[in-house]
Amino acid sequence: MDKLRVKGGKPLQGQVRISGAKNAALPALAASLLTADPVVLENIPLVNDIFTTRRLLRELGVAVEFESDHSARLRAAKIVSDEAPYDLVKTMRASVLVLGPLLARTGHARVSLPGGCAIGARPINFHIKGFEKLGASVRTEHGYVEAVAERLRGSEILFDKVTVTGTENLMMAAVLADGRTILQNAACEPEVVDLAGMLNDMGGKVQGAGTPTITVEGVSELKGTTHRIIPDRIEAGTFLVAGAITNSELELIDCNAIHVSSVIDKLREAGVHIEIAPGPTASTRLTVRGSEDFRAADVVTKEYPGFATDMQAQYMALMTQATGTSVITENIFENRFMHASELMRMGADIRIDGSRAIVTGKTRLSGATVIASDLRASASLVIAALIADGITVVDRVYHLDRGYEKIEEKLRSVGAQIERLK
Ligand code: EPZ
Repeated sequence: MDKLRVKGGKPLQGQVRISGAKNAALPALAASLLTADPVVLENIPLVNDIFTTRRLLRELGVAVEFESDHSARLRAAKIVSDEAPYDLVKTMRASVLVLGPLLARTGHARVSLPGGCAIGARPINFHIKGFEKLGASVRTEHGYVEAVAERLRGSEILFDKVTVTGTENLMMAAVLADGRTILQNAACEPEVVDLAGMLNDMGGKVQGAGTPTITVEGVSELKGTTHRIIPDRIEAGTFLVAGAITNSELELIDCNAIHVSSVIDKLREAGVHIEIAPGPTASTRLTVRGSEDFRAADVVTKEYPGFATDMQAQYMALMTQATGTSVITENIFENRFMHASELMRMGADIRIDGSRAIVTGKTRLSGATVIASDLRASASLVIAALIADGITVVDRVYHLDRGYEKIEEKLRSVGAQIERLK
């Protein structure tokens, strides 16, 4: 398994281009199943979760070609299988996003249940309940969920809890259903809005994306489209923290400041200097200037537009360098503090109390061998390693490769002393 070796203590300088959003590209790739026409996706991040989705789509019969310019050409002219097998789903739970499109397009889908993951149980009961509301008969057996529906019928679905992929899955199913569907307590994430935009470009009738109430008027068929994936707000947030903690001047391009505003606000509250400048088209440039001293600032993770749970681990690394005590409350996932014990091995002062982590700073971090447990935890360890005394070796970086495109090359291009140990 690859490892990353980092020598800490060097400020960064320069410009980083932010890639397309993994969590927008995954549902967009699944949406290609909804039409027999060609679909072109631009600004695709070349990360392992995207490659896993390519494998899955090819197994379902979709012709998929990735181009070096970060675009993908897809065509689901004929769906040859409607089963997402365990060996793929177990590596990437977002594979569940093919359930809605397969059910809508073919009337049948069989998808392995994702099972739990490092950050929580993560059931898909709200997805299943939603498909049943659309008239599908759903049964779970032998570790698979099987859904059948001659034609889905529009209905009103109230999510007990906000779910991002649940909203996306039901939106993709409802777009080809008979009649109107209303999704209540829907997720408002930018990735949901991006998907709704793509579905409407394909001839769908989705309204209200970005608000808790989404209305979908079903249509009989969808056509192909060309769609540009939004920038990755979590990658942007990760580099803002990396720039701040290393007391650097870092410019991020091709990102969207609005999507990162809760992170920008919190970092400013902690004393980080961030400038927002308009960039070409809708994208933006962000310049972060770190400092020697940060103020401790409490944070609570929330659904969008609140502070993203996917930024919690990176923020914790920053708070180890803040003067004072900060309380980090994780409200979305029940087991998302795995990085804390590894940060403590580097010298951080963190106490876990249920869904709260109490971080006392400022502490000197020293290099160590640490293990990544999940995607964002691994980013947090790399960030800590950038300022730790001496050498840190981050093990199991396959977690990182799932969602960050060439992170060590991007960091090295702005001066970090980081290398991959194959
Ligand atoms: C999406 O996961 C993201 N993944 C996650 O990013 C992100 O952390 C999460 O949303 C929250 O923002 C993708 O978009 C591919 P949820 P998702 O359904 O949709 C519970 C990353 O680092 N729940 O919004 O799986 C669930 O257990 C990843 O890039 C149910 O109980 O998350 C959680 O506590 C990690 N039953 C909460 O709701 C359900 O049927 C929110 O989960 C569905 C969800």
